[in-house]
Amino acid sequence: MGFAALLYILAVFLTLSSVSNACPPSDRAALLAFKADLYEPHLGIFNSWTGYDCCHNWYGVSCDPETHRVADINLRGESEDPIFEKAHRTGYMTGTISPEICKLTRLSSLTIADWKGISGTIPACIVSLPFLRILDLIGNRLTGEIPADIGRLSRLTVLNVADNQLSGTIPRNNPRKFWQIKNAESGFTQQQQIKWANPILDILHISSFRFRSLMLSRALLSNNRLNGPIPYSISYIYRLSDLDLSLNRLSGKIPDSLGKMAVLATLNLDGNQISGTIPPTLINSAISILNLSRNGLEGYIPDNFGSTSYFMLMDLSYNNLKGRIPKSISSANYIGHLDVSHNHLCGPIPAGSPFDHLEASSFTYNDCLCGKPLKPC
Ligand SMILES: *[C@@H]1O[C@H](CO)[C@@H](O)[C@H](O)[C@H]1NC(C)=O
Repeated sequence: MGFAALLYILAVFLTLSSVSNACPPSDRAALLAFKADLYEPHLGIFNSWTGYDCCHNWYGVSCDPETHRVADINLRGESEDPIFEKAHRTGYMTGTISPEICKLTRLSSLTIADWKGISGTIPACIVSLPFLRILDLIGNRLTGEIPADIGRLSRLTVLNVADNQLSGTIPRNNPRKFWQIKNAESGFTQQQQIKWANPILDILHISSFRFRSLMLSRALLSNNRLNGPIPYSISYIYRLSDLDLSLNRLSGKIPDSLGKMAVLATLNLDGNQISGTIPPTLINSAISILNLSRNGLEGYIPDNFGSTSYFMLMDLSYNNLKGRIPKSISSANYIGHLDVSHNHLCGPIPAGSPFDHLEASSFTYNDCLCGKPLKPC
């Protein structure tokens, strides 16, 4: 057999294998339907979405190497990709997110971020993507509500819908629904289901099974138009470490259960219409970044700082807090940046190591605070 024949066989083999490695026609069709609802005039990122194999060289698309199903869609309007450098601009895209995307049933991450102009709603069918781990739609003009049963996405680790125009309330974890899903998976009988539907057992069930299996670690919903209260049930999301609900229209009280969460490290509730008092649980918690600025919080700053209080940032400015800065704050493990300005606090600023480095601006615009770094009492 000559060398040419060998090359020929090799070529045929490669062609055959690349066809069998191509994405399924149904995934390709779903992507093309998704593309058809979007308009990206400046960069031409969708020009690469041609040909049969959507797993190769389709901009922002990648597939599972074994199943050849589409696993990731990663379209960012702000990126260092050469396509952006060449165009000397950031991305801009209009249109809507087609529900056809839900036909990509092996999708693990969906990032359509910072395109500024994408409008319409988040397709409700997104909750039926069982493998979805990352949903990042930050920086568009999405309206409507966050799908109510987003909690069904049991593998979701990052939910980022910040900087949009979403309205409605924050979805609650609905225990009954969760139980029924779990039940369907595990194949318990109807009778057991009814028995377990007893509310108290439901709570037990939630805390011991369902919410521990929830993977969500970052929920970023900042800068939207969300209203209503912060659901107590958020605190069942066992692995949540970063909760950003800032710059919305949330009202009601801060659930004290937030301070009891095992790994919650960042809690940003600033720029809402939250009322009530600051739950003492927040002071002795895993939280190290706490921004409650620009709300309607009243009452006293809780007096239960201690060795477990470790704050890189605590911003309580622009509220209606009264009374003194509590003495116990001197026994905090660490307070990096503190801002209690623009409240109605009064009395001497406690001395102690957490305060040595703070400037006057952290304490200004109160009723009658005094002592270092302000004027002596
Ligand atoms: C806290 O939130 C307010 C209001 O959104 C913001 O202006 C401020 O910069 C934040 N504080 C810090 C220290 O980041």
